[in-house]
Amino acid sequence: MDAGDEHYKAYVGPPLKYDLLGALQFTLLCAAGLRSNHKICDIGCGSLRVGKMLIPYLNPGNYYGIEPNQWLIDEAIKEEIGADIMRIKKPQFLNDSDFKVGGFNQRFDFCIAQSIFSHSSMSQVDQCLSEVAQSLATDGLFLATFIWGKNDYQGEEWVYPGCVEFKASSIKELAWEKYGLKMQRTNWPHPNGQNWVLFHFPGNEKKAEKIAQFNLSQYDSDTENSKANDSLKGKVISKLTRALKK
Ligand SMILES: C[S@@+](CC[C@H](N)C(=O)[O-])C[C@H]1O[C@@H](n2cnc3c(N)ncnc32)[C@H](O)[C@@H]1O
Repeated sequence: MDAGDEHYKAYVGPPLKYDLLGALQFTLLCAAGLRSNHKICDIGCGSLRVGKMLIPYLNPGNYYGIEPNQWLIDEAIKEEIGADIMRIKKPQFLNDSDFKVGGFNQRFDFCIAQSIFSHSSMSQVDQCLSEVAQSLATDGLFLATFIWGKNDYQGEEWVYPGCVEFKASSIKELAWEKYGLKMQRTNWPHPNGQNWVLFHFPGNEKKAEKIAQFNLSQYDSDTENSKANDSLKGKVISKLTRALKK
């Protein structure tokens, strides 16, 4: 199977990276502060690559997905999620191609659009930012991926499975000038060479910078834990040795 083929794991990207892309989105959201009480809108949720991890994790009623290809959601529910989790967690879906985040009538702590703007026209990016700006909490975050280039894609059509590029400066200007959203670039990893950005309202700059600079050295204290663990192991072994000698 190739990316773009008519199978729920292939239509959304390279099928062998289906779980990797889901896990990566889930990890980034948690690193950015997502917790189970938060509400999230997954824009272009496709076959629930991250949805299948978010839906069981979030409290009931906190996952919202928008997707024009209903068959992708149906297949993911059948093959990956199951009726019981649907009944308990009550995710909501909108079958829509106009990014109608406002259609859910919710205030979102997080929105995510993974591999959506790598296929969209500039007017679709504009429409999506407009929708997000109206539904994002004042301290909320919108995580999105782009492919940066020297020029902006000029077409009006959604391109799929091919990709389009935009200049980072054009997107930053659009988000700020029209919707009052600041754009923070990040170095977060992406296995298909896309670039993660955070959009947020003014007042959240420090938080966004900290999240953008997130790196594993923040976990250096784990080295201390492992030293403490080694010393504990040593004590247990010498106690056992003494007991055996008796
Ligand atoms: C590359 S896939 C990414 C899916 C998902 N975000 C993920 O990470 O698995 C792109 C998705 O965008 C959906 N899509 C197409 N047109 C769209 C539109 N106008 N609005 C929102 N999603 C759209 C496609 O059906 C597809 O599911």
